[in-house]
Order: sequence, then structure tokens, then C-alpha cells
Amino acid sequence: MLEELFTNNKNWADQMKEKDPKFFSKLLEQQSPEYLWIGCSDSRVPANEIVGMLPGELFVHRNVANVVIHTDLNCLSVMQYAIDILKVKHIIVCGHYGCGGVAAALRHHDHGLIDNWLRNIKDIYQSYSRMLDKLPEEDRLSRLCELNVIEQVSNVCHTNIVQNAWLKGHELTVHGWIYGIKDGIIKDLKISCNTVEKISAIYRIKK
Ligand code: CO
Repeated sequence: MLEELFTNNKNWADQMKEKDPKFFSKLLEQQSPEYLWIGCSDSRVPANEIVGMLPGELFVHRNVANVVIHTDLNCLSVMQYAIDILKVKHIIVCGHYGCGGVAAALRHHDHGLIDNWLRNIKDIYQSYSRMLDKLPEEDRLSRLCELNVIEQVSNVCHTNIVQNAWLKGHELTVHGWIYGIKDGIIKDLKISCNTVEKISAIYRIKK
């Protein structure tokens, strides 16, 4: 069953050992990634590969359309572990142009269960609809993909996990990036946030 994948895996492990005989024994001791990646599940946007990172260098959470929802225990647990235990220094929310999840949110089909997940993106569309509706149709999806990243960066910053880290003096920066499937290039949306001062007052925890 799936013989090719096991063959590929064996070849990969052999290559890694050839380059560095201690590669796996070093990883066995501990992981100390500096980055948490929150990206889309899309098979065309593999986290480690596109930023040239090896196993051990990137802690990763992926879901459809890289959404950070206030009550998603999966995503929140990944964030809490990455911040409190692994002490990552950077959280990167990386969306991508042409995201199928974002595109689905722009349509009116019934896709089943996943529509409940994607409704978060419809909410973003609704917030920016006056601006988005003025754009030519081909630009609307791209802009909504960018806005989705911007909103998810805010959602990350609004969590008590990130704010408590900042209050404790943990140097942590949250970044918003977007990846182009057509050319493989990542663009920094320049919305990095590393202080509670940058988030809207209503979300702030005060101690
Ligand atoms: Co996507």
C-alpha cells in the first residue's frame, strides 16, 4: 500500500543522514524552533519547503484558509504550546493568493460542513464589502486573501496567550505574509505586531 511514499521516505532519510550523520540524533534530543507557522492546508503551500526550513526549525499549524478562530482549541493549543513551552520568537500567519477556501467563501454554493468554517471569511468580506465590491472581480479574491491574513494576525494578537506573553516580557512578533502560488514568492504585508499597544483597546488585557 502506497509503496512509493515509503520508498520516498527511505530515500529522504538516507539523504539527510548522508548530509549530516547526526541529523536525526540531534533532533531526538529536543526541538527548539523559533517560528510558529499558521498557514493554509493547501498542498501547494508546504510550510517548511517555501522558507527553506529543515525539520526542527518550524512549528506548524495548518487549516483550510489559515483561519484563527477565538474558540478553536486546536489552533489555540498549538499557539499556547509554541509560545509558553517552545518560546518561539515569531508567529507567521501566511495566506496565499488563489486560496480555494477564500474563493469558496465568495460563492453561494453549499459545500457542507466546511461552510461553517468558511463563514468566518464571509464575515471579513461583509466588513470590507464596500471596498471589495468596487474592485474588478479578478482582484477581489486576491484582496480578500490579503484581508484574511490581516484579520487572522489581529485574532492571534487578541488572544490572552499572546498578550500574556507580551506582558511577561517575552519578545514575540506576529507577522502577516502572503504567498504567490504562481511564482513561489512570499510578500510581507507589513502588519507585524509585537506589542499590546498596537491592538484595539477593547481587546487589551490590563494587569
Ligand atoms: Co488556501
